Amino acid sequence: MIATAKRLEGVGEYYFSKKLREIDALNKQGKDIISLGIGSPDLPPHEDVIKVLQEESAKQNVHAYQSYKGSPILRNAFAAWYKKWYNVDLNADTEILPLIGSKEGIMHICMTYLNEGDKVLVPNPGYPTYRSAVKLAGGVCLDYDIEEKNNFYPDFDALEKLNFSGIKMMWANYPQMPTGKKASAKIFKQIIDFGKKHNILICHDNPYSFILNDEPQSILEIEGALDVTIELNSLSKSHSMAGWRVGVLCANEQRVNEIMRFKSNMDSGMFLPLQLAAVKALELGQEWYDSVNAVYKERRNKVFSILNLLQCSYNPDQAGLFVWAAIPGKYKDGYELSDEILSGANVFITPGGIFGTAGEKYIRVSLCSKEEKLDEAIQRIENLKN
Ligand SMILES: Cc1ncc(COP(=O)(O)O)c(C=O)c1O
Repeated sequence: MIATAKRLEGVGEYYFSKKLREIDALNKQGKDIISLGIGSPDLPPHEDVIKVLQEESAKQNVHAYQSYKGSPILRNAFAAWYKKWYNVDLNADTEILPLIGSKEGIMHICMTYLNEGDKVLVPNPGYPTYRSAVKLAGGVCLDYDIEEKNNFYPDFDALEKLNFSGIKMMWANYPQMPTGKKASAKIFKQIIDFGKKHNILICHDNPYSFILNDEPQSILEIEGALDVTIELNSLSKSHSMAGWRVGVLCANEQRVNEIMRFKSNMDSGMFLPLQLAAVKALELGQEWYDSVNAVYKERRNKVFSILNLLQCSYNPDQAGLFVWAAIPGKYKDGYELSDEILSGANVFITPGGIFGTAGEKYIRVSLCSKEEKLDEAIQRIENLKN
């Protein structure tokens, strides 16, 4: 028998990787499941972005390996984007590292900084990849709860009581996934002050700041943030380019160089036409963001109808591609509700427990389905309830 490496112990296949296979199997049995699970934008990128990719990829001289650090044109475009939308000044040569998706960046950071047994603060509930990347890199996760009673912000009084020995890193993410909680300058400052006080590397993941959020914010807006913070950003959601795999890491020069030591051994750069198309995406104006948000707003109203039918409670003012909602007391947990709706109405809704124990009494509904599909889901759930 060939055993898998020890580092895989405690790391299962990604929940959605398994769940989507199950849904596929149900569809093959003729079930026609409506999946309101994953946050993969179904809207296309801007037509000009696609045009750049088409035109550039038809050229003869764009097919070679590219720089490990990304093309200067893309790094400059990310710097200009950070300045325009967040008013953050970044040096395009030294403080910006384009990524093949920000999910990969989470792994790069963990592999660059964690030794066996190093402790890492991870949000509960939070994006499951923080947890698995920490474990794969040999680190140990210390959950910090993101609770409704605390406005879905970290409870710093509780955090201050921790034994800080061995805590090296903290993952944070506002607008928060899955709770949809928006960022605030105050919370960003508190996170940075906490990192500075305890010598903890703050890793802020920021893929949702443009979705259903009038004021995109970056943690790097806080003065002195770069001393202790790395921020990841992504075009997946903001530009409807999830499959293109374009993200960015922003950090001070020393950190970028450290992470490059790992990353340059993992990939061999990004396809140049894709980088040039990403530049076009980064140059899009307010109309682009308004146009996608108008669609998500309409869909969100329908998702509210679904949640009302399910007697869930929720804050209507959430950012990001999902609505996070508390389940009614008659269900043991979100898994039970999710299973009932899947088997009874052929609609899949994500149980909040997959994001951590603090999410067990919640469900998360994605906004990445067309209005007709959401109408159909409403119909099916109404039929089930009557
Ligand atoms: C909180 C969070 N961070 C990161 C990602 C990954 O984004 P990317 O497509 O840039 O890898 C996701 C994707 O769902 C996410 O929800």
